[in-house]
Amino acid sequence: MRICVVGTGYVGSVVAACLANKGHKVVGIDVDEEKVRALNKGRAVVFEPGLEELLRRGLEGGRLLFSSDFRKASGASLVFVCVNTPPLGREEFDLSPLEEAVRKLSLLPSPPRAVVIKSTVPVGTTRRLEGMVRDRGRGTRLKFASNPEFLREGKAVEDFLRPLRIVVGTEHREVASLLKGLYADFGAPFILTTPEAAEIIKLAANAFLSTRISFINEIAKVCEHYGVDVEEVAGAIGLDPRIGQHYLKAGIGFGGACLPKDLSMLARAGEVCGEEMPLLRAVESVNQLQPFRAVQKLKKALKGIEGKTIAILGLAFKPGTDDTRESPALKVCSLLLREGARLKVHDPALKGRVREVLPEAEDCPSPEEAWKEADAIALLTDWPEYRKVNFRKASKQMRGKVVFDGRLLFDPDEVRKAGLEYVGLGRGEGG
Ligand code: UDX
Repeated sequence: MRICVVGTGYVGSVVAACLANKGHKVVGIDVDEEKVRALNKGRAVVFEPGLEELLRRGLEGGRLLFSSDFRKASGASLVFVCVNTPPLGREEFDLSPLEEAVRKLSLLPSPPRAVVIKSTVPVGTTRRLEGMVRDRGRGTRLKFASNPEFLREGKAVEDFLRPLRIVVGTEHREVASLLKGLYADFGAPFILTTPEAAEIIKLAANAFLSTRISFINEIAKVCEHYGVDVEEVAGAIGLDPRIGQHYLKAGIGFGGACLPKDLSMLARAGEVCGEEMPLLRAVESVNQLQPFRAVQKLKKALKGIEGKTIAILGLAFKPGTDDTRESPALKVCSLLLREGARLKVHDPALKGRVREVLPEAEDCPSPEEAWKEADAIALLTDWPEYRKVNFRKASKQMRGKVVFDGRLLFDPDEVRKAGLEYVGLGRGEGG
C-alpha cells in the first residue's frame, strides 16, 4: 500500500521505517529539512534502538523516502499524521502543526483515502478536524480515523512491531477495513470504536500509568516515617496479579513528552465539560512535588546546598533515551542551581550536549569525573551502567559522603559499607 507519514519525529520516523519494512511504499514528510536530510541518509533523528537498521533497509529497498514536499503525499491510500502536540502554557496544547498538516492534505490534487491521526490529541479533535475540512468545502471530504500510538521511548520499534493492541476510532467502514488490513499480520487485538473512545483510551492508559507512579511515591512518604523500604512494599503488593509489579518504582517522578501531557489533557477533557477531576489533578501535584522533595533531602544531608558540588548521574527523563523533555532530573538540577550548587553532570546519552539543556552545569565525560571532589552524588536517571558504581572507589575520590538515590537504583547497604551516607526516597531510616 502507498502510505504517507506526516511528522517524522519520535513516532513518525518509527512508523515510517517499520511500515516500509512490512513491504509498504512509504514517504515521510517533515517541514524540518535538516531532519529530512538526515533520515534520507539513514540517520535516525531520535535515540531508538533498531531504527537505523530499518531506515537503511527501507531506503536501500526503495520503499522509503523522506521529503519536505507535501505534494509527495498525493496518491497515498493512507496518511498517518504523527506531528507533535506540545503543551502550550499550563492547560492548553499546540494543535497548529496538526491543523496545518490537515489543511495541506485537504488541498492535495488526489487526496488520500484516509487521514489517520496518530498524534496524541484532546478528546474530540479527530471529529473536529474532519468537520473543519468539510466545512471549508476544500477538495473532497477527507475521511478520518484516530489510531493512537502506545510506543515507549527507547522501545518504540519493538512496541510498534509487537503491539499489545491496535485501537482504531472511525465511523467510516472503508477506513476501518483499510486499517484492519494494514494491521492484520501484527498479531494483536484490533479494537474498532469511535474517534472519541480511541482518544480517551490513549489518554486513560497513560494517566493510569502516571497514577501508579504517584501512588507509590505517596506510599514512599509513609514508609520513610516507619523505617520501611518502599521497594519491599511495592514487591509484596505487586504479587497480587490485580496489581502487578510494573510502574510501582518510587523516585523523583515521571517525565517525558507523554505521561505529564496526557494526564493533563485527560483532566482537561473532563474539566472543559464542567467535571471536577480531583484524582488526576492529585496525581499531577504529587508528581510536581517530587523534585522539591529530592532537593529538600539533599539540603538536609549536606546541611545546605549553597556552594556545594554535586555529581549528577543522569539527565534524561528515563534510561534508553536522550530526551530531557519534562525530565524530573532536569527539574532537580534547576532547583539545585537556584540554591547555589555547582553541578558536574554525566549522562551517557547526552555526552557533550549537557550544556544545551543546562548551560550552567559542567559536562563530565564519565561518572568518575563527575564525583571527583564532589560533596554528593545524586542519581537522577536509572541508567543500567550506574548499577556498577564502585562506592569504595568513589568514597576515596569524593570530597563529601552523601549519595542521593533518586531512582532507588543503589543498594543502601553497599553504599553504607563504603563509608558513605545513603539518602533515598521511601527507604527506611535513610529516608
Ligand atoms: C509512555 C508510555 O509508557 C507509552 O505507552 C506511551 O505510548 C508514551 O508514554 P514513555 O513516555 O516513553 O512511554 O515513558 P515510560 O517508559 O512510560 O516512563 C515514563 C516516566 O515514568 C519516566 O520518567 C520514568 O522514569 C518514570 N517511571 C516509570 C517511574 O518513575 N516509575 C516507574 O515505575 C516507571
